[in-house]
Amino acid sequence: MPLHKGADKATKRSYSVNPFYGEADPIGGMAAEPPRDALPEGPMTPHAAYQFVHDELMLDGNSRLNLATFVTTWMEPQAGVLMAECADKNMIDKDEYPRTAELEKRCVRMLAELWHAPDPASVVGCSTTGSSEACMLAGMAFKRRWALANAGRYPSADARPNLVMGANVQVCWEKFCTFWEVEARQVPMEGERFHLDPGAAAALCDENTIGVVAVLGSTFDGSYEPVADVCAALNTLQERTGLDIPVHVDGASGAMVAPFLDEGLVWDFRLPRVASVNTSGHKYGLVYPGVGWALWRDRSALPEELVFRVNYLGGDMPTFALNFSRPGAQVAAQYYTFLRLGREGYRAVQQNSRDVATRLARHIEDMGDFRLLTRGDELPVFAFTTADSVTRYDVFDVSRRLRERGWLVPAYTFPPDREDLSVLRIVCRNGFSHDLADLFLEDLRSLLPELRRQPGPLGRPEAVATAFHH
Ligand SMILES: Cc1ncc(COP(=O)(O)O)c(C=O)c1O
Repeated sequence: MPLHKGADKATKRSYSVNPFYGEADPIGGMAAEPPRDALPEGPMTPHAAYQFVHDELMLDGNSRLNLATFVTTWMEPQAGVLMAECADKNMIDKDEYPRTAELEKRCVRMLAELWHAPDPASVVGCSTTGSSEACMLAGMAFKRRWALANAGRYPSADARPNLVMGANVQVCWEKFCTFWEVEARQVPMEGERFHLDPGAAAALCDENTIGVVAVLGSTFDGSYEPVADVCAALNTLQERTGLDIPVHVDGASGAMVAPFLDEGLVWDFRLPRVASVNTSGHKYGLVYPGVGWALWRDRSALPEELVFRVNYLGGDMPTFALNFSRPGAQVAAQYYTFLRLGREGYRAVQQNSRDVATRLARHIEDMGDFRLLTRGDELPVFAFTTADSVTRYDVFDVSRRLRERGWLVPAYTFPPDREDLSVLRIVCRNGFSHDLADLFLEDLRSLLPELRRQPGPLGRPEAVATAFHH
């Protein structure tokens, strides 16, 4: 959400009145032009208000053609009905809506089992607005655990907490470090390694490290970070130094992909060092925005004093959250989707997305103008750049030209130490079928002759050079 500024005088305008929109009645009708940037003096009819808002929103993009976002853009009609039925339910009001609270609890239990918690009954977890909030909560648990263990030293000048991660982490981890005054220690990218290196991560740890974040998979290119190797490097560190550093797995996307498609990959609570895991229900959890999940291995991983109980809504259900009020509809929709698809259904949906991604990546590689950095065989997401032989256009030109055809494909530069590398990234989600992928390929192919005739890259227009979308 951009931080919006007030409108200056020059841009202040009113809605122009179309007689079809309103009634002749000057009170609440359309005799006066309602302002756009100030609260109107009086009410208008629901018909007119609906039409103004509806018309303006028509100019938003077509979400099915958005290959930038990880977030669910299609659910079946029954899910939509259920969400509309739950639009008034406040997730915090667990006494008023005990069944919604029960569905949340069941989702946590299902995820605990899916992520191989050795004792699912000991797992503690909650829904959140998305992975960002879940990551904040996990980071806060790390920080508090470390502060409790270092009560004799903290706070003091020589005890500034730090969190170790790859330079490819999603911005939520930089936010966490800034908001909660934790030093972000980032392992840079190097050569063709675009995510965390286990040895380098362990080397950055010291007695002030509150934890290590491993990402499944990377927002920048869809690759899985080697969680088991990170844990092994930290085991070695512990043997050598006694430092016992916990790991959080940011499975915003991958924690809802790997359990179905990569069952042999050990990345979750099977690794004793993994203290907590998050995922976005609204990404490959297949629910409309915004729902996320955060789970801790057991009570010792989540200090009790972070859990709040309030009784002013009745009852005293313990909660761990940044917000107080939050919609309950997404939690109902998550439970619906779990029930509706089951393991086999999720496997089929995610496999289809992976098949679309790997096939699309292959066809793009075959065009000869592009070099793949990833192939869509981990997250159904891949990044690619222009081949060395391409000198007349760059990834920003491709992104801009695709936008003319309605496709949103972000172009962005990689973080340190690969800022020299600019890429395009495609996220294949449920609803992006082989048919749509073929139409995309046709559009991309048809743009190439013109791009190849350009005198040179046209530069990096601000609107196109997005850091990256999620
Ligand atoms: C790895 C990772 N972590 C965290 C987030 C933030 O997730 P959310 O948008 O659910 O807050 C994202 C979003 O893309 C992500 O890719």
